Amino acid sequence: MNHVPVAIIGAGPAGLTLAHLLHLQGIESVVFESRTRQAVEETVRAGILEQGTLNLMRETGVGERMEREADHDEAIDIAINGENIRIPLTELTGHKVAIYPQHEYLKDFIAKRISDGGELLFETTVDSVENYQGDGPATITYTDADGTTHQLSADYVVAADGSSSPSRSLVTADGGIRARHEYPYAWFGILVEAPKTQKELIYATHPEGFALISTRTDTVQRYYLQCDPEDTPDMWPDDRIWEQLHLRADSPGITVSEGKIFDKAVLRFRSAVTEPMQKGRLFLAGDAAHTVPPTGAKGLNLAVADVSVLAPGLTRAIKRNDTGLLDDYSKLAVPRIWKAQHFSFWMSSMLHAVPGEDHFATQRRFAELRSVLDSEAGQRYLAEQYVGRDLPRFDY
Ligand code: PHB
Repeated sequence: MNHVPVAIIGAGPAGLTLAHLLHLQGIESVVFESRTRQAVEETVRAGILEQGTLNLMRETGVGERMEREADHDEAIDIAINGENIRIPLTELTGHKVAIYPQHEYLKDFIAKRISDGGELLFETTVDSVENYQGDGPATITYTDADGTTHQLSADYVVAADGSSSPSRSLVTADGGIRARHEYPYAWFGILVEAPKTQKELIYATHPEGFALISTRTDTVQRYYLQCDPEDTPDMWPDDRIWEQLHLRADSPGITVSEGKIFDKAVLRFRSAVTEPMQKGRLFLAGDAAHTVPPTGAKGLNLAVADVSVLAPGLTRAIKRNDTGLLDDYSKLAVPRIWKAQHFSFWMSSMLHAVPGEDHFATQRRFAELRSVLDSEAGQRYLAEQYVGRDLPRFDY
């Protein structure tokens, strides 16, 4: 049986970032990904990199294209019922964010992994993870793209295989917790061939609900509208989309730019946190452990924060036989996850109309938002959470 120090299940932000960080320490890994490379590189996802995430890309030699192509934003706008308020993120926090969608991040890490000669197996399904609680290595059984089944032994296994991770139940069995929250709304997301409405993002709220004006390139824009979780794209003909975007997000001097819509999809809103995130030699990272709703786009950044603990933890364990940091992984990762969970929940609740909400509920919601925005302390609080905390830093 072949042996590898670290087996990573899933080529998403957590898995690919971890493989890259380990490689920089001279530790090899195998990454298993059930989808094709094309599917991974083309799935449309949210797109904000916190300052810590962009620093990591820069410092580890993966940031060149991001630096060149991403919009680096120093502010966001919040529009309340047609009145636009600017939050100067950089002035308040010293930090910026980059608008760089997740699939672009993944393309850069996949290209780097391949040029570094890393093992990245697409269309390969992990069938089972066994022996992860003993003193010896764990056993991975997997089926490759040709349908052939193999086994591999690994000192450590990291399940970074997304929100429906089959490995999660191995970690939560015997007393683990999976805390969940469902939201009474979802986002209807579109891609449009249109010029930018403006450079910075607009988070808009209105008695009829939320809208987000985001961007992809000079000629492609990403817009979202709050919708019902059961809505389907055929319920959103183009004229309904434009009517609702203008109603919710236009403000004096700002008109949402229109164009040809070429992608429509409904994004579900869910929160979930798994505790602990480890059992024996098996660790959960990214969405396999926790899911946040898309408001604020914290998902990718949280995945990067997880592996900023796991990478030095695994390195110390493998190189120096010191498992201290690895043993503390959940204890170190979970408080940050709950803070991001709270921020995403809080922003979502202030900006979205609960279906059927009455005048009292709408006005209270607007007043909460105004109380935050009318105070410098309030704006700074929101800005600090939005740009994110520095990533955890540990010696390797
Ligand atoms: C996006 O551009 O997809 C995006 C931006 C900001 C968010 C969520 C999604 O808060």
